[in-house]
Amino acid sequence: MSTADDAHTRHLAAADPTGWFEHLYAEAENGTANVPWDVGDPHGLLVAWARDLDGTGRRALVVGCGLGRDSEFVAARGFATTAFDIAPTAIATTRRRFPDSPVDYRVADLFAPPADWHRSFDLVVESITVQALPVALHQRAIAAIADFVAPGGTLLAIAVARDDVVPEGPPWPLTEAEVRSFATGGLREVSVDRPDGRWCAEFRRG
Ligand SMILES: C[S@@+](CC[C@H](N)C(=O)[O-])C[C@H]1O[C@@H](n2cnc3c(N)ncnc32)[C@H](O)[C@@H]1O
Repeated sequence: MSTADDAHTRHLAAADPTGWFEHLYAEAENGTANVPWDVGDPHGLLVAWARDLDGTGRRALVVGCGLGRDSEFVAARGFATTAFDIAPTAIATTRRRFPDSPVDYRVADLFAPPADWHRSFDLVVESITVQALPVALHQRAIAAIADFVAPGGTLLAIAVARDDVVPEGPPWPLTEAEVRSFATGGLREVSVDRPDGRWCAEFRRG
């Protein structure tokens, strides 16, 4: 059984940096692979950050939602939540897992998102998607994510931290300069924390 860490996956990720996810989710559906981030619970840093948040009357977008662990949590905080992933099988599996979910699950590519998502969401949650892409794609991904934040809205970015050495990913954890670069296109940094080797960073559009 393969995982996102093995040599086979590294080869697929190098050949097709955004296409290999579909392959992994499809294999998981067949029972021949494990999806390492399919841990059931929402990310602990998101839970800690959003515990007392009331999203009533506000819109949220969850980037690279995978199998829905964070999007279901965000929707439960009251946000009208859209969540997207490039892998059709991830979205199909998630819809099946949560048949009564209020989340609007979509197949979409971060690098070619629907035009009407431009500056449209009061909360944008990015958890470990940028780090799942090669370093050469990080700045494009970061700029695309920042662009989803509405005036007055907030972006929460979560990633594994790295200092200088570029690992043979996936994943490709983020440097401090990379995480701070979410402050682009009018977003300003609210906080950048590094608990336990991970970034938990908040940005806001004025
Ligand atoms: C490491 S997984 C994390 C999934 C989810 N955020 C979680 O924490 O459970 C990265 C996710 O990003 C998705 N992804 C990668 N490139 C993408 C792109 N260009 N557009 C949308 N989703 C993408 C993958 O399919 C995968 O589900």
